[in-house]
Amino acid sequence: MGIGPPAASPPYRIETPRLVIRCWEPEDAPLMKEAVDSSLEHLRPWMPWARYEPQTLAEKVELVRMFRGNFDLDNDYVYGVFEPDESRALGGSGLHPRGGDGSLEIGYWIRADSIGKGLATELAAVLTRVGFEQCGLVRVDIQVDPENERSLRVPRKLGFTEEATLRRRLPPKDDEGERRNSVLFTMLAAECATSRCMDFDYVAYGPLGREL
Ligand SMILES: CC(C)(COP(=O)(O)OP(=O)(O)OC[C@H]1O[C@@H](n2cnc3c(N)ncnc32)[C@H](O)[C@@H]1OP(=O)(O)O)[C@@H](O)C(=O)NCCC(=O)NCCS
Repeated sequence: MGIGPPAASPPYRIETPRLVIRCWEPEDAPLMKEAVDSSLEHLRPWMPWARYEPQTLAEKVELVRMFRGNFDLDNDYVYGVFEPDESRALGGSGLHPRGGDGSLEIGYWIRADSIGKGLATELAAVLTRVGFEQCGLVRVDIQVDPENERSLRVPRKLGFTEEATLRRRLPPKDDEGERRNSVLFTMLAAECATSRCMDFDYVAYGPLGREL
């Protein structure tokens, strides 16, 4: 918040061969809760919000309403990540306005029983393409805790540039902990077309449900 929206708002729905990426709806609250509750130990080391889990279903409904409202108001774009038939949530993601005008930052998590299949890589690749091809961004960012080996692999594989280690940029993991360092990965618009992001195809849809 506090900066202008991208040239065009991110799509409401993105389909890849293995994923549906779309804004959460309140009726997804049970799917979100099941995905988070079954992944708590896996999420806690890296996702600061996981310390407040498990949440009740009513709390999840309120959370999704906030995500949904902010998405529609162009404040922040939080996506749910689903199986192609949308019967199960596979994780969460987002395009977040944290790095100034013309940029969005990708965040991601994948449920514990579905890691190691390249889903985070597919997710980050298509959101990067969407950022440049649909939203007209100048730069896409990804920030990763330097201790998060698994997550570091994702931007490295896709051809992001490791720009710097920022000190004490990420929130602490727990109430007593210190703020964590972050490795800032960036990709610029001109770099995307020759990057490994192009190995991953997608179809995007706007608010009318029409293909973009
Ligand atoms: C990080 C996370 C999103 C990765 O999801 P994923 O779908 O398993 O990721 P991918 O399968 O696309 O790629 C993971 C890479 O890490 C590698 N990897 C897997 N386990 C690893 C380990 N213990 N140490 C180092 N690398 C590991 C995989 O081999 C793969 O690399 P490769 O394709 O070069 O072999 C997932 O583990 C997660 O949700 N973690 C908790 C939340 C989190 O950390 N989010 C990111 C915050 S920046």
